[in-house]
Amino acid sequence: MSPAVSPRPARPVRFRRAAALLPLLLALPLAACSGDDGDPAPGPDTSSAPVQAPLDPVLAEIAGGSALDIGFAVATERLDEPEYREIVDKHASLVVAENVMKWETTEAADDAWDFAEGDRLAEYARTTGKKLYGHTLVWHSQLPAWVKSLDADAMQEAMEDHVRTQAEHFKGQAFAWDVVNEAIDEDGSRRSDSPFQQTLGDGYIADAFRVAHEADPDAQLCYNDYDIEGINAKSDGVYALVEDLLADDVPIHCLGIQGHLTAGKLPDDLQANIQRFVDLGLTVRVTELDIRVETPASEEALAQQAEDYASVATACLAVEGCLGLTVWGVTDRYSWIPMWFEGFGDALLWDADYETKPAFDSLVEAVGKGRPGRTA
Ligand code: G3I
Repeated sequence: MSPAVSPRPARPVRFRRAAALLPLLLALPLAACSGDDGDPAPGPDTSSAPVQAPLDPVLAEIAGGSALDIGFAVATERLDEPEYREIVDKHASLVVAENVMKWETTEAADDAWDFAEGDRLAEYARTTGKKLYGHTLVWHSQLPAWVKSLDADAMQEAMEDHVRTQAEHFKGQAFAWDVVNEAIDEDGSRRSDSPFQQTLGDGYIADAFRVAHEADPDAQLCYNDYDIEGINAKSDGVYALVEDLLADDVPIHCLGIQGHLTAGKLPDDLQANIQRFVDLGLTVRVTELDIRVETPASEEALAQQAEDYASVATACLAVEGCLGLTVWGVTDRYSWIPMWFEGFGDALLWDADYETKPAFDSLVEAVGKGRPGRTA
């Protein structure tokens, strides 16, 4: 999405330091922050000198000790903007396309494939050593009109062809896919306004996973949805769906809990919810984290947001099978939130001027604590 903001000249991304972060940073293993091999460096005896806290925390490195991926949804056209790119280069261990691997981009007309921007992100991931997460194969939204008008046989063929062709194209590059996105309604039933649900009926979800698995047997195949952070009617519906798929030997491996949240309104059972899906045999990721506040944002709201980012990270880290946190965007400047939620915004870790927000510091702190019972 492109709000009416003109590109700005490049300058180094600045990092605000929070005093509260100091004790944590002092406790972090030096190698995690310096990127060295952990060998003590020769130098003067500093045992009685004031200890310098690392001033430049790198999220992906800090999280790496806990085997937690730190992802960002990337708008590929923004990678040309130096400040944007610097952040992704530095802090991400995983990238996902915010839009360019969706059906409306990759197959806007029947069998007319356009992987140019998806390939660009895949190349970026390959050359920078980051994981590429695929988003998304079957979704009712950002779906071209030609698909919606098909009869059942033609839609089934189109869906299978889309899943197969795209999964094969990115085979060996995308380690995981959101195979089916947002197929459940708030009450836990199948999403009634999905053309796939309406035309193909319940079986399309299992079919999509089976075809994706045939196309790329090594890929982790995920179901991804929003409003399923806590234990509620919708996440119960997703739970029942996953149980059924597993009982039918459908190749599903992971759950994406999107995490489009409002500051101060986090469910208190996020960890328990993640745990129940891990207990089913899936791995879990928070796939689209952003925590919106009313704008203009007050200091209190940003402090609440910071606390909430930390709570999400802490809940994920508390469950061994929760493998990643992906933030849905880089800077408030380009977030999708203000266009979709009037009066809300400022949901990300960097503000519109590429300044880190308190949420960045608190996320660093929470991730730096590692997994309970493990040394990060
Ligand atoms: O491609 C057109 C472009 O040609 C046009 O000039 C421009 C004018 O506004 O619009 C462009 O399309 C926009 C598209 O993003 C690509 O930038 C759409 O208007 C806009 O609605 C669309 O929004 C995306 C939204 O999905 C659509 O559902 C957001 O960027 C994207 O962040 C958002 O991501 C979704 C996840 O995929 C699934 N979960 C929910 C999440 C938030 O909605």
